[in-house]
Amino acid sequence: MVKKLNFKNPPNHLAIIMDGNGRWAEKRNLDRIEGHIEGIRSLRTVTAAAIEYGIKYLTVYAFSSENWQRPKAEVASLMRLLEEYLNLELPFLIKNKIRLNFMGNIEKLSKNSKKTLLNVTGRTKKFGSLCLTLALSYGSREEILTAALRMAKDVKNNKINIKDADENLFSSYLYSKDMPDPDFLIRTSGERRISNFMLYQIAYSEIYFTKTLWPDFGKKELIRALRDYEKRVRRFGKTQD
Ligand code: FPP
Repeated sequence: MVKKLNFKNPPNHLAIIMDGNGRWAEKRNLDRIEGHIEGIRSLRTVTAAAIEYGIKYLTVYAFSSENWQRPKAEVASLMRLLEEYLNLELPFLIKNKIRLNFMGNIEKLSKNSKKTLLNVTGRTKKFGSLCLTLALSYGSREEILTAALRMAKDVKNNKINIKDADENLFSSYLYSKDMPDPDFLIRTSGERRISNFMLYQIAYSEIYFTKTLWPDFGKKELIRALRDYEKRVRRFGKTQD
């Protein structure tokens, strides 16, 4: 019998910068898109494992606002993959009661991608076993600036009083308004930077870097990362007592 793994205190919210698809493909003399296809496989594995290990929120960096500057053909392939992923994944999401969510400036997506995305988020919005958020056309600085401008507008229009402006109120203007901050952030591929991802929300997140390229990141790697997380002592700026 396979022993069921237990994590005493798994992260409630796991965020992942899925990096290294391109290098994975180049190492094999394949087109970069093959790396993204394998990357989707890893995403599927990690999503299923997240439910198994009691994680409630999984947020993944699928396409940054800077990624629009990649060669046109790669951007087009990524958009096509996104649509395919969403259509193929819908039965899995429904079966496993996963809510699909997004954050980012989706106005920039193609009409079809946007339509498919809204269809899937709409059809899964009542589910609660896991909230899977795709950061799409997402950039943290843009998110913070937009939030600040919207809040300033609400002050100007007397919708809110500037005296009530605190961190909680400001957070409600961010894309992440309905979710807790990430407890744990993983970045694959050996790069050790944040690349404009959830800068406001990761203030107290534990961070884990691995050299493994995202397409090679499976259940074993996730377990290793979660074991590492288990050992962390989180103090949130206070002392341990
Ligand atoms: C980084 O690899 C990854 C991305 C730019 C996007 C992540 C995308 C996927 C996992 C697949 C698509 C997912 C959806 C839901 C459409 P990279 O290309 O930056 O790799 P490199 O740094 O090795 O070049």
